[in-house]
Amino acid sequence: MDERSGFVCTISALDTMLRDVVGAHLRRRAGSRDADALGAAGALREVFGAAAAACPATCRLAELSLSTSPFLRYAVRAGEIDMIHMTQSFEFSAAHRLHCADLSDEENRRTFGKCNNPNGHGHNYVVEVTIRGTVDDATGRIIDHAHFQRTVGEIVIDRFDHKHLNLDCPEFATLNPTVENIARVVFKRLAGSLSPCELAMVRIWETPKTFAEYAGKT
Ligand code: NI
Repeated sequence: MDERSGFVCTISALDTMLRDVVGAHLRRRAGSRDADALGAAGALREVFGAAAAACPATCRLAELSLSTSPFLRYAVRAGEIDMIHMTQSFEFSAAHRLHCADLSDEENRRTFGKCNNPNGHGHNYVVEVTIRGTVDDATGRIIDHAHFQRTVGEIVIDRFDHKHLNLDCPEFATLNPTVENIARVVFKRLAGSLSPCELAMVRIWETPKTFAEYAGKT
């Protein structure tokens, strides 16, 4: 951070990098014959080096991401530019009740408040699934999108949509269906099913203000 301005860099410097380097590159390639074959993931990989070189001198480019719709984005990170992260949003609606069998009724009410209501309440959950993999140069993609969407649909969305998580889903028969536990359960259900990619992270939005994410290991 520049101690006098309090800035890491000026927004105008970032704007210039994005417009003159990244934007110009994407516009140029949009008109080229092989634009479709290289895809959005290939475009990010191509432009990362030039964008890093044009980054303001006080900074280091850490990540470049490209959204192709409000529900799908790609990202490339410094140090592993051949590795593409792809994140897609899905959603399901479900009811749950937050309750711990190990706590007394009074402790449950104090801990979970209205969320401990005996007959439950509902949420429209948004599920963001992030996978990582390398671009197949023949297709310009890291995974077959239809396979990806079908897999998440079958393993996660069909499983939980319009269900009462505590009553209808064995995963939560004894496990408190907090947003944290939902993120962990969804990750574990999906891990290993998205070949040739690796599951990098699952983020669950319980409300527009609250999410939990899980990236494996623990
Ligand atoms: Ni709730």
